[in-house]
Amino acid sequence: MQELKRIEQDVVGRIAQAQSTAELNALRSDIMGKRGPVAQALKGLGKLDADARRSAGEAINAVKAALGAAFTEAEGRFAAQDAEAAAQKASVDVTLPGRRTISGAPHPLRLVEARVLEVLGTLGFRLAQGPLVEHEWYNFEALNISEEHPARDMQDTFFVADQLVLRTHTSNVQVRTMTAKTPPVRIVAPGMVFRNDPVDATHSPAFHQLEALWIDERVTFADLKGVLRTVLMHLFGADAAPRFRPSYFPFTEPSAEIDVSCVACSGPSRSTCRVCKGTGWVEILGAGMVDPNVLAAVGYDPERVQGFAFGMGLERIAMLSYGIDDIRLLYENDQRFLDQFAPRGGLKRAKER
Ligand code: DAH
Repeated sequence: MQELKRIEQDVVGRIAQAQSTAELNALRSDIMGKRGPVAQALKGLGKLDADARRSAGEAINAVKAALGAAFTEAEGRFAAQDAEAAAQKASVDVTLPGRRTISGAPHPLRLVEARVLEVLGTLGFRLAQGPLVEHEWYNFEALNISEEHPARDMQDTFFVADQLVLRTHTSNVQVRTMTAKTPPVRIVAPGMVFRNDPVDATHSPAFHQLEALWIDERVTFADLKGVLRTVLMHLFGADAAPRFRPSYFPFTEPSAEIDVSCVACSGPSRSTCRVCKGTGWVEILGAGMVDPNVLAAVGYDPERVQGFAFGMGLERIAMLSYGIDDIRLLYENDQRFLDQFAPRGGLKRAKER
């Protein structure tokens, strides 16, 4: 009992000296805990006889109560201090610099697509879509590309099932639209296309095209030229003189490939230009008057309606417009690359051209 009294005095002294709630709590669990002196003393009661046990029990409980009260009283001392610390922790330092919101930017392919849609929209072309997984008939047959036609070799096709392909071009939307609607039709169809090409600086097995189609009673090659001139001037500036070269596509007759004067160099004299290989021209798209066989395949009367179609690769346009020298940059989504097309950078640059 004397020992316990001594401990009580000692603890009361230490409680008075404690500097914080944490210190106080540590002390409390030392003294009042299961292995502390109070608990030990209570355990020892069993060895005493009944009378001694009662008086010792009362004395121990008195010490326990006294210490409990001392701890509780001491806690009150730190209440204000603790509240202040908690408030400090929760408060905001208004002198810290602000955090900038990182704003997104349209992808360069989306920028190019938007610019083509914008100009074709003003010319009355309406948005159309078609499936990416397509029946051979829409991707090939109806476009006058029969099974034995050598033109199928031009496009290394991914087959997903018998007669089902990943569309190799957006030209399937021509067929989809014409089989669903009576003429006139005037549509533009951007979207993904797929070819079994290994990846390199200018090829990707998945890329983007944009298709346009205008069918009516009197749509002529002159209309094709006028529309293309307008589109290409919108994309590459007023000096971008398009050049029409005779070409071949199964779904158009006559067909043409269209070049623009090289946007990277000033012309044929600069024979080192990597973009045009020194020719002064870069190929931009394929076009032509829709072949009567295609019109017949979709149930149109080739004697009554006619029109033109063209198709372009959006990656190519983006690479030329923005001076991108590797197609893979367009798919890596490296923020440092994409940030350059944020409205203050990319859009303005495109407009300046
Ligand atoms: N479909 C062609 C290709 O993927 C591009 C094309 C050429 C589309 C001529 C047309 C066109 O509509 O008239 O290579």
